[in-house]
Amino acid sequence: MSWVEARNLPRHVGIIMDGNGRWATLRGEDRQAGHKAGSAAVRRIVRVSRRLGISALTLYAFSEQNWARPQGEVEALMGLLEEFLKSERDEILDNGIRLVAIGDTGRLPEFVRESLDPLARASSENEKMTLALALSYGAREEIAHVARALATAAIAGQIDPTEITAKLIASRIPSLSVGEPDLILRTGGEQRLSNFLLYGAANAELVFSDRLWPDFDEADLFDAIHTYQTRTAAYSPHDESRRG
Ligand code: FPP
Repeated sequence: MSWVEARNLPRHVGIIMDGNGRWATLRGEDRQAGHKAGSAAVRRIVRVSRRLGISALTLYAFSEQNWARPQGEVEALMGLLEEFLKSERDEILDNGIRLVAIGDTGRLPEFVRESLDPLARASSENEKMTLALALSYGAREEIAHVARALATAAIAGQIDPTEITAKLIASRIPSLSVGEPDLILRTGGEQRLSNFLLYGAANAELVFSDRLWPDFDEADLFDAIHTYQTRTAAYSPHDESRRG
């Protein structure tokens, strides 16, 4: 396990949790078993991130594209999400975690919303860490949503089109309300962003791990942060003028 420096932690870490299906196949189990083990990894990594002092964690829990998966798999993922929200509720509230959801959450089934919305409300003043769950999320869709809102405001005369700058757009992007991601990590060996945090990824360090998500543990997270710290040692990642 690598050492990490408390001084130069990434503030906002985004994770593409990939490899649940392959993990299950390797064990001769169905994909749902992989997602269940993936849920346990979510609990583990949220806990470690909080203890480390990471300010924000955005987890790609269900993409816009995931709706196209077989109905049984979508239902299993929704069930695991509900279970996670219920079982982690006390830990989230007791530890000062603010839970937010980003994405087209209106598409989520009622039973998930019934656990999600009250927890988001109850935790909204918490300040220790933000846990953002990307649900029914797609970064292009998120950008399109902001573009539509700005175009509507411009037509209504509330904003002048010349005021629409990259900075203004960033300020309206929900996934960036906790700041730009400093580190985007993908497990499972693929090296793609798959429509995750695209606008915010402009200056993020990208780290790819071969570990399948259900196996991803504290030591793997430390390795990823160590890689981030080694790469950013030569510049100040939070100094706007030196980014690029
Ligand atoms: C990718 O694995 C992962 C997902 C589609 C969703 C991630 C979901 C979880 C980790 C569990 C539930 C989440 C929470 C927050 C409780 P894959 O099926 O694409 O894996 P593969 O590439 O090996 O097929």
